[in-house]
Amino acid sequence: MTLEEFAAEVSRESPNAFAIERGSHFDGYASACRDLGLELRRPDPKETGFYRGGRLIGEMRGMVPDLTSDEAVAICKDKTRALDLLKAAGVPTPQSRYFPPETGYDDAMRHWAEGQGDRLVVKPSDSYGGEGITVGVADAGAFRQAWDLARANLSDPSLPIILEERIDGLDVRAIIVEGRFVCAATRVQAHVVGDGRSTVAALVAAKNETRRRNPYHSNYALRVPAGQDDAIPAAGQVWLLTARANIHQGGEAVDVTDRLPPTLRAIAEQAAKAIPGLGVAGVDLIAEFEGGTGRVIELNTSCNFCVHTYPIHGTPRNPARAVLDCMVARANRGVLYRPRRSRGLVARLGRRMKRLFRRA
Ligand SMILES: Nc1ncnc2c1ncn2[C@@H]1O[C@H](COP(=O)(O)OP(=O)(O)O)[C@@H](O)[C@H]1O
Ligand SMILES: [Mg+2]
Repeated sequence: MTLEEFAAEVSRESPNAFAIERGSHFDGYASACRDLGLELRRPDPKETGFYRGGRLIGEMRGMVPDLTSDEAVAICKDKTRALDLLKAAGVPTPQSRYFPPETGYDDAMRHWAEGQGDRLVVKPSDSYGGEGITVGVADAGAFRQAWDLARANLSDPSLPIILEERIDGLDVRAIIVEGRFVCAATRVQAHVVGDGRSTVAALVAAKNETRRRNPYHSNYALRVPAGQDDAIPAAGQVWLLTARANIHQGGEAVDVTDRLPPTLRAIAEQAAKAIPGLGVAGVDLIAEFEGGTGRVIELNTSCNFCVHTYPIHGTPRNPARAVLDCMVARANRGVLYRPRRSRGLVARLGRRMKRLFRRA
């Protein structure tokens, strides 16, 4: 099924309705805590503790549960390190080459000119939310732009820029907890479906109205790409607005937990296991459901569970339950959980002051 076919299929369904206006990554944790009889404490927005009978049994720094090590976070932040480990473990990935941002332009340009053309993706190795990524490079001018955009979006300028083979298929985010598949959503690229009369600008405005009613997607409105305002898509035509599927870029989450072929589940599990210490992973794959094939493009340690709790279509899932089940099982095995950082008031105040100074 092509992306356009999938987009056409889901746009025929009416979107999910939720009782709340604003959703958060922590909602799923709060409800799973209620179900499991745990207490959730957040003394600081960046630190969450899970308690059973007053005793700390696990925690989360930002959105990263303690089941994931700091080393795994560091590896996944640099996509080239993660890709190298995935390739070494035999996980299917796109072909990719890395170029230093300071000195690599000429070599990278030559690589593009050798024939990749529109089949090439240019991305900063520490991109987030799809920022700085160009999917498909039409000509030499576009390559320059793609390179400059990737370079400007490198948050660590010592990291390389990735030139990668463009893969066709559906964009899947699979959640793996301690090596086991939990749930998956497809993120469908921002799109509108034509009616033969309305302009792209009018279709986008109408879709943003619906999107505003979703507790998560409402944070990221669809944007009309430059020069497309007045175009009129044919009736039933799926008009893609961007090639990046991130929700930040206007993508729409659709739950596919029950539709994901077993081979793709296995690839996602194998990918998470390829990184030592990666207890909770958001595996990004580009997949063909019919053939059950897919390639892993990236691993996320800080993955927003709202993709799964507030999908536009499909059954809402709660991966936080699987994370907390692991923490409870660990406590039941008698493992005494030791906080990774001091939780005392003085230590917390010190960390907060440090952050304030950094921001100033
Ligand atoms: N090799 C690729 N082929 C096709 N699309 C890609 C490729 N790499 C990235 N993309 C698109 O860009 C999006 C963001 O890429 P990703 O590598 O996951 O970085 P980020 O950390 O910014 O999410 C993907 O979800 C996908 O839609
Ligand atoms: Mg991604």
